[in-house]
Amino acid sequence: MSATINDSQNYAAYTTTDYDVWQKLAGRQISALEEVACREYLDCLTALHPVIAPAAPPKFTELNQQLRAGHGWSIKVVPGFLPVDEFFGLLAGRRFCSSTWLRGMNQLDYLEEPDMFHDIFGHIPLYLNKDYATFAERLGKLGVKYASDEEKITQLQRLYWFTIEFGVMRQNGEVKVYGAGICSSFSETRHIFEDPKVEVVPFVLDDVLAQDFVVTEIQMKYFAIMDFSELWAVVDELEARWA
Ligand SMILES: [Fe+2]
Repeated sequence: MSATINDSQNYAAYTTTDYDVWQKLAGRQISALEEVACREYLDCLTALHPVIAPAAPPKFTELNQQLRAGHGWSIKVVPGFLPVDEFFGLLAGRRFCSSTWLRGMNQLDYLEEPDMFHDIFGHIPLYLNKDYATFAERLGKLGVKYASDEEKITQLQRLYWFTIEFGVMRQNGEVKVYGAGICSSFSETRHIFEDPKVEVVPFVLDDVLAQDFVVTEIQMKYFAIMDFSELWAVVDELEARWA
């Protein structure tokens, strides 16, 4: 299915190949995450079953019903990357943006820009978790407030990257993943645990704010929180520091 620029999901347009791709990706990733995802992500994924399940691409109308009933979130369909101020503006309004297209069968492990599997399977489940969702909303509000401050926006993008996109946490002494870039990627899921050069360091706010990242390169460093409430303290600290 090609990307279409409209504000809704044209569900009837998904082809049998799209169904096959979704089935392969979701089936493989649900098994891979059982051992390595944090408890909260897995609980949310279970709560979204069968709306998110290998059998078929999820219907956004059904996802939105559950998201709204949870903590008032909903999906905003977008054609691709958004300008950063629009992106933070959506988060601040409890909306998460998603594409509607799916990668091809020859791209199961590599993507140049996020497709629906990344956006939905990777990102959406945790918006049913109040602590996580509130962090995202508050991060968005900081982004709106400091939209014209380039340095602060860069720091907020780093904070977003090392939490919502590539965050990990320690649970019962073990590293567990919650970032969407990991949860939606079979190779990322393995890489973090199998590459001996990967570093998992404690989440120290100033280290995260100073840590540059390259979107197209595989992560070699991850910052581990202890739980999502730690991220509230991070936002409290930034609000106080920047006031
Ligand atoms: Fe993402």
